[in-house]
Amino acid sequence: MAEPQGVQRGLQDVVALESRICFIDGRQGRLIYQGYDIRDLAARSTFEEVAYLLWYGRLPNATQLEELKGRFGTVRALPPPLVDQIDRMPIEAHPMDILRTAVSALAGFEPEETRPGASSIGGAQRLTAVLPSILAQFHRRRKGLPLVRARPELSQAAYLLYAVLDREPTELETRAMDVALILHADHELNASTFAARVTASTLSDLYSAVTSAVGTLKGPLHGGANERVMELLDEIGTPERVEEIVHGKLSRHERIMGFGHRVYKVEDPRATILREWSRKVGENKGDLHYYELLRRVEEVVHREKGLYPNVDLYSGSVYSLLGFPADLFTPIFAASRVAGWTAHVLEEYQDLRLIRPTAKYVGAVDLPYVPIGQRS
Ligand code: ACO
Repeated sequence: MAEPQGVQRGLQDVVALESRICFIDGRQGRLIYQGYDIRDLAARSTFEEVAYLLWYGRLPNATQLEELKGRFGTVRALPPPLVDQIDRMPIEAHPMDILRTAVSALAGFEPEETRPGASSIGGAQRLTAVLPSILAQFHRRRKGLPLVRARPELSQAAYLLYAVLDREPTELETRAMDVALILHADHELNASTFAARVTASTLSDLYSAVTSAVGTLKGPLHGGANERVMELLDEIGTPERVEEIVHGKLSRHERIMGFGHRVYKVEDPRATILREWSRKVGENKGDLHYYELLRRVEEVVHREKGLYPNVDLYSGSVYSLLGFPADLFTPIFAASRVAGWTAHVLEEYQDLRLIRPTAKYVGAVDLPYVPIGQRS
């Protein structure tokens, strides 16, 4: 059916606001955070530097970086009543549901951090520091592990690995995690960031904005795709079955998760970097099963549909090799993207304009009101 005139379904190609935070060149396959190419950041920086860059618009010097790391370390711990609340949630719940609920509940324990405005930077740092602790608390409880220690000396990447997996990570594992966090930290006006900005544009608080964003990220067309990629790989099983399974899905007009993108018309640069890390970590663990399956899936999907991989194609294979269960993949995405969400919310507060688009009405008008007793 033809689109009603003037409606941009999915707000595709609509330029909704100006931002200095992130630039995507979808034709050249480039991603820029505050002026810096993602390839340089992934090769040379850390998640802490990137979070600072997103919030303050410049890379930190050594003192500023140490201060931020110190702050992350000191505000990592969860308020005990929130630990109790997480412990009362069903262990079968999806960790994204736990995360959304916990972020929302956290606001109630720290009212001074929740005020909208420039002071929200404290809340941005608190939320970024604390998200791994929320995931760890839930996961450790379902595994019967004791409460996690905050370990202020650990970077966010090392803490995430340590807190969830309950072991000391190696240098290579920590670097792989750090790169994954850098790559996921921001992506312009993606659906979850837009949701955060819409919430912030009503002058609501940072915690409400991040709660909206977590709920939006959960969907399989957005952050939830990485978990579905691993389900696909498990369904495929062996490289000989790739052709048959992928063909079957495409002929039934099913989507292959981890492919396609609203903005990139070529390969997502984050997929290029994560592909390499999937191979590196696979070699280190002596397990290239997922890497080889994914290479084969890429070949078939590109040949059949001309689609390129997005960030979600390889991230799950890296997380899985590191030891994370599949239902934590999207929450790990959130633990990184929270830096970008909060940077966008801070930017929204600086140049506030209520985000309120309009709809083209295609329903009826002037229907005669029928009293309830006369309705069929
Ligand atoms: N598998 C199969 N076909 C696809 C895929 C896919 N992954 N992606 C797009 N297509 C096809 C569509 O079926 C459609 O074909 P048609 O014109 O014959 O109907 C065409 O490509 C255009 O698709 P749209 O949905 O209009 O493209 P849109 O820009 O809206 O979609 C999206 C982007 C939602 C990401 C889509 O590519 C998709 O569903 N991918 C799979 C889910 C995924 O990996 N999401 C993660 C995205 S990255 C992120 O959010 C972190």
